[in-house]
Amino acid sequence: MKEKIIAKKILKWYDLNKRSLPWRKKVSLEKKQYYTLISEFMLQQTQVTTVIPFFERFIKNLPSINSLAKVDDKKLIKLWEGLGYYSRARNLKKTAVSIIKNFEGKLPDNLEDLLTLPGIGSYTANAILAIAFNKPYIPLDGNIERILKRYLYLKKDKEIQRDYLLQRKIVFGKTLRSNDYAQALMELGALICKPKNPLCNQCPIIKNCKSYKNKDFSLTKKIKKNKDKYFVLKVYKKKQRYLLIKNTKFNFLKNLSIFPMEELPNPKNFNENLNFKMSNMNMNIKIEYSNDNKKFPYSYWIDGTKMNSYMLPSFTKKIVQYLEKN
Ligand code: ADE
Repeated sequence: MKEKIIAKKILKWYDLNKRSLPWRKKVSLEKKQYYTLISEFMLQQTQVTTVIPFFERFIKNLPSINSLAKVDDKKLIKLWEGLGYYSRARNLKKTAVSIIKNFEGKLPDNLEDLLTLPGIGSYTANAILAIAFNKPYIPLDGNIERILKRYLYLKKDKEIQRDYLLQRKIVFGKTLRSNDYAQALMELGALICKPKNPLCNQCPIIKNCKSYKNKDFSLTKKIKKNKDKYFVLKVYKKKQRYLLIKNTKFNFLKNLSIFPMEELPNPKNFNENLNFKMSNMNMNIKIEYSNDNKKFPYSYWIDGTKMNSYMLPSFTKKIVQYLEKN
């Protein structure tokens, strides 16, 4: 299908099926820009239906970039309460302050300037340029990614990498209605090309959809490469007893007993003694014996010869076994 025809079909579907959302209302250009900024920040990590009442309350209380730049932090956080990820709210205010200071109070209309604003990454910048300024950008969000993968039947690991998808999105073509088109694609992904049970019979581009042709709508997940991480593990030993601490520091094995350890960010010539696969990490562990007098808030001694009488994660047990043998 020619790219122009895809855009035409999707826009026609959107005109008939779009949800009426408060940030899609017809308003002045200045309001449109402000509403897009606020809604795109809110929609970064929160679903459309949750965002609606928060958006309405927010713009009622803070109707302009000026009022947002001046709001006190307490009020700002109160308005954000319930949306979570509060760094978004703090960045939003910082962005308003920067727009006043550096851009004469006007939301920038180009990628380079938008990317200087706190909390605005490539996705949000693309969304703002399309929605607020009607420029020919297509923000590749999760919904649009899904349509692209299904339409072109992209399944291999190299085909579902972000950079590859960013190149392939040209199949969506261009239109003079860039602002509607970005939202039409998001809407098509949210309402029709859903993650599970897509409603193909209502889809305006079913005819050329390769997944439909193959009767296979499954989406492959990216193969996650385990990250290499490096730890120095301190062994405090008295007779056959070892000191353990309660882990309040690392996300893995939270609140469980581990040996005291430190992560080294990028060590050179790291000679590990042990290697573990843990969640999405490849843990390289170097063991160091220590007898400094460091105090740990939660620590206790275990007898290395009576390991089975303790409730310990197998990670810790394996280290004790290693120490007993070496
Ligand atoms: N997700 C991100 N931006 C959106 C928008 N403008 N409409 C619907 N969903 C979105």
